[in-house]
Amino acid sequence: MALLYAIIITVLLYTPGIALSVGLEDMATSLPTLYEHYTQGGITSGLSVDQPYFTLNNKNISIYSGAVHYFRVPSEYWRDRLKKVRAAGLNTVETYVPWNLHEPEPGKYDFGDGGSDFQDFLNIEKFIKMAQEEDLFVLVRPGPFICAEWEFGGLPSWLLREEGIKLRTSDEKYMKHVRRYFNVLLGLLAALQFTRGGPIIGFQVENEYGSTRSITPHFMPDLKYVEEVRQLMLSNNITELLFTSDNPIYHGDKGTLPTLFQTANFNKEPERNFDTLKELQGNKPSMAMEYWTGWFMHWTERPYNGNVDEFKDLYERILKFPASVNLYMFHGGSSWAFLNGANMDHAGQSTYKPDVSGYDYDAPLTENGDYGKKYTVVKDLLSKYNPLKTNVPAMPDETKRVAYPEVRIKQFLGYDGILSQLPHKISSDKPTAMEHLAINNNTGQSYGYIIYRKKNLKLEKKSVLKILGYIHDTLQVYVNGELLNKNVVDVSGFGFWKLKDSSIDIEPSDDATIDIVVCNMGRNNFGTLDTFSQFKGIWDSVYLNDQEVLNWEILPMEFKKAWTGGLTNWEEFDEAASSRHGMGLYKAEFDLKEADDTFIDMSKWQKGIVIINNFVLGRYWKVGPQQTLYLPAPLLKIGNNEIIVFEEFYPEKKVTFSLEPLMHNNFTNYV
Ligand SMILES: *[C@@H]1O[C@H](CO)[C@@H](O)[C@H](O)[C@H]1NC(C)=O
Ligand SMILES: *[C@@H]1O[C@H](CO)[C@@H](O)[C@H](O)[C@H]1NC(C)=O
Ligand SMILES: *[C@@H]1O[C@H](CO)[C@@H](O)[C@H](O)[C@H]1NC(C)=O
Ligand SMILES: *[C@@H]1O[C@H](CO)[C@@H](O)[C@H](O)[C@H]1NC(C)=O
Repeated sequence: MALLYAIIITVLLYTPGIALSVGLEDMATSLPTLYEHYTQGGITSGLSVDQPYFTLNNKNISIYSGAVHYFRVPSEYWRDRLKKVRAAGLNTVETYVPWNLHEPEPGKYDFGDGGSDFQDFLNIEKFIKMAQEEDLFVLVRPGPFICAEWEFGGLPSWLLREEGIKLRTSDEKYMKHVRRYFNVLLGLLAALQFTRGGPIIGFQVENEYGSTRSITPHFMPDLKYVEEVRQLMLSNNITELLFTSDNPIYHGDKGTLPTLFQTANFNKEPERNFDTLKELQGNKPSMAMEYWTGWFMHWTERPYNGNVDEFKDLYERILKFPASVNLYMFHGGSSWAFLNGANMDHAGQSTYKPDVSGYDYDAPLTENGDYGKKYTVVKDLLSKYNPLKTNVPAMPDETKRVAYPEVRIKQFLGYDGILSQLPHKISSDKPTAMEHLAINNNTGQSYGYIIYRKKNLKLEKKSVLKILGYIHDTLQVYVNGELLNKNVVDVSGFGFWKLKDSSIDIEPSDDATIDIVVCNMGRNNFGTLDTFSQFKGIWDSVYLNDQEVLNWEILPMEFKKAWTGGLTNWEEFDEAASSRHGMGLYKAEFDLKEADDTFIDMSKWQKGIVIINNFVLGRYWKVGPQQTLYLPAPLLKIGNNEIIVFEEFYPEKKVTFSLEPLMHNNFTNYV
């Protein structure tokens, strides 16, 4: 490969117009950095689209950007990933901003020091400044809605508590929250703008708004909303370029305003997309805000298998056009904990498809930050097409990775042990959605599981428990602590989101306690606004035979750090415990002399979540395709480490590790 570069560079050296008289050895050091080139002589203006090409500070620029979401990468690895972005020859990093993490409760913010469970991922200011230190410009897409295969597209679930709220519209019930949050966020970002000496060269207004519509009621597209978001940016002294992104072929200029610069999102037909943009906004510069490098995966789907040659062909055609381009994603990272999104079409819950925890995306950098095949493609094509030669640093080494020896489960907490330690017990006439619970300072439950308990039932004969409506999203029924439904993989069957008005038989019992345990598998992040009222749990009527069951106890199970870290009464995990059925927490410990990256192999387990050193790493589910969870070294410690598996069905006796991510590729139950 070194030889290949030598040839390419030699060719460039002899290309007329790029008359460099320096030798290969000196080149790296004698070339200017991006900031030296673009800020030389002082900064007088930011990114401009007032001519058919971009200028930054009155100098020509093509934006070669890559998307990296700081909230999907441990902060200890931010610098490594940014160095790898720059080493590919890119000059810009692009990120979304997740409102749901930065404002976990209305008016309670976390930008790295707010004390939320995700605090370590949230110092956006540090990330942006670090990008500048690594000689990169920054594009920010603050939302409020970000899609991103992220829980609810980044919207906080507590918005749903506003009755009748029309999300992503100028509805004051929604805008009053946007305004409060943006006045904090944008104030922080304004100070990091290019013309103030920072790295941010552009801001997106909303996100793919042109593709958003509503079947009922017809309130779309609401350009008054787009204007209000724009005004919020202006009033917060955001002065850099404001843009929108959409697929111009399908959605034209439906989601934008004449005052905003339009960019395109696509993974095919670059020329047609850029030509359409020119028809829409005249002879402005061409830019793809999202050229999709790969794709994400839903549970139950086949593994994504992208084609490198196709990726290369399209990237080359974009660069040749010539256009600026942001690679979405350049490095996907992981959707930690319960933070994956989902898709749903307007037909509703039966079409629901939750995303897996990994967000590898088949991007140039893998989920664990290694160089994938597409990395070389990007680096080679940029060195060929970028007319501006700057000092591109060497590629950092890949991070060491190991497959630790298996660890045995030593302790467990069974059904009663878990339920007896849940912090809240709420009485309710009928089952209530998790967002409506008066917990978390009256902001509701956002993530995790919720248990609906009915005690002291006298069931004289075999009964039928019927849950009206849909389940949001998976469900288990326990009678006196015994799990009734045992289907783990057939998502068309009982216990899953596809069935409407589902029912299950219950045996006679004198004093039965029925528990319905519902798992929120992630809120929809894309689609018509009709699918955006995404309450989780159950809230329709529940019947036993023909009798509606009333007076429930509701026990939220959020897996917050404060709770999982304080669990007590662990029992020894012996032979009997290893054959138990139904939910349990299974604990293993292991000592490390050196902490390295690894993958946890959950392929033998059924369905649940993994908690590592009190951080919820993510979900696993036998149905696939994802079978391993990336465990980055910063989540491990020198010395004693603790893994807790929350398994919904049947435990294994051990946790094993893998050097590589594993995917199912022949599961028979794909839908
Ligand atoms: C900037 O780019 C335009 C369009 O390619 C070109 O006409 C112009 O000469 C360039 N300016 C400089 C200073 O290179
Ligand atoms: C915007 O900038 C002006 C002028 O520098 C300043 O007076 C004002 O306080 C700023 N507004 C915000 C919201 O930062
Ligand atoms: C609860 O919410 C109220 C109103 O927003 C706020 O004043 C108070 O500080 C919050 N309490 C906690 C513990 O966050
Ligand atoms: C395919 O499935 C069979 C049966 O479950 C299993 O034995 C085999 O290992 C699987 N093969 C691959 C490549 O996953």
